[in-house]
Amino acid sequence: MEAELNRFAEEAAEKIAQCSTPNDILNARAQFLGKKSMLNGLFARLRELPAEERPAFGQLINTARGKLESLLASREQEIKSATWEAQAAVDFDSSMPGYSWQRGSFHPVSIVRRQIEEVFLGMGFEIAEGPEIEDEFHNFDALNTPADHPSRNLADTFYLQSGKLLRTQTSTVQIRVMESFKPPIRIISPGRCYRNDKPDPSHSPVFQQVEALVVDRGISMSDLQDTLQNFARAMFGPQVKSRIRPHFFPFTEPSAEMDISCVNCSGAGCRVCKNSGWLEMGGAGMVDPAVFKMVGIDPEIYTGFAFGLGIERIAMLKYDIPDMRILFENDIRMLAQFKGESL
Ligand code: DAH
Repeated sequence: MEAELNRFAEEAAEKIAQCSTPNDILNARAQFLGKKSMLNGLFARLRELPAEERPAFGQLINTARGKLESLLASREQEIKSATWEAQAAVDFDSSMPGYSWQRGSFHPVSIVRRQIEEVFLGMGFEIAEGPEIEDEFHNFDALNTPADHPSRNLADTFYLQSGKLLRTQTSTVQIRVMESFKPPIRIISPGRCYRNDKPDPSHSPVFQQVEALVVDRGISMSDLQDTLQNFARAMFGPQVKSRIRPHFFPFTEPSAEMDISCVNCSGAGCRVCKNSGWLEMGGAGMVDPAVFKMVGIDPEIYTGFAFGLGIERIAMLKYDIPDMRILFENDIRMLAQFKGESL
């Protein structure tokens, strides 16, 4: 039996040395070490030997198996590197230029969002976040929005089957912050909002806002104006002016709209400001006492201001992008202009 084993091992070693493809190796492995291999057969025949010889012979079989395994592995490695070398000899031309990787860039909306954050962090604000999937309470009820307000319509708001909705404004975060923290509060909250709007030059069903909320004793409309003015200067340059005009929002009283002097013509009138000299920036106002009551803040003690800005609008003004849809098409030629700009 031992002679048989030796003959088998010799033959197998020879055949393995002759293998020339990975497939040969596969077959050889099956043939010499597989279930139906002679080696396995010998194992089964151990019984034929006298009991005292069995362990020694079992040992011999195992040694033979180990040898064959390592022969297979090293032959396999030889074949692999030979194939690689052969291919490299044909394909590799060290004088060819390499592939160059295109460097990515930050999206202008991300760049502007980060700049806005920096400006407000510099004014002592903190950054708050809230969920994009919201409930009616945080998106409407707590913001003092009447049950029949048009913004609640299916035509304006994306409702989910769960009864929740995609937030239509970052004002939701005002509520979440006031539910969890006591004044003094000074936060901004940038983030995505969703509205059932058809894309056009100034609308998109997904867009970003940044909300600001300041609550403390003695906060007044002049704090709002001051913050707005500081922000406008930091974002667009020291020459920029700002103003507020009366408006209406359910969650502020009084409410206002915020404008800055046109960054293109400095107020003289041009196509960007439609000859008005002013650019609308967003909504603002003094937090309505009804909202304070919803979140358990005493309006007799505290006052506050809030505002909401559209981030895409600011990006479009800063980078002279005429159509909001350009921001979502991600045309690489547009994005390439922002190469090298850091967040
Ligand atoms: N949430 C409003 C909107 O999406 C914008 C806004 C107006 C936010 C007035 C405010 C505010 O915080 O006080 O149109």
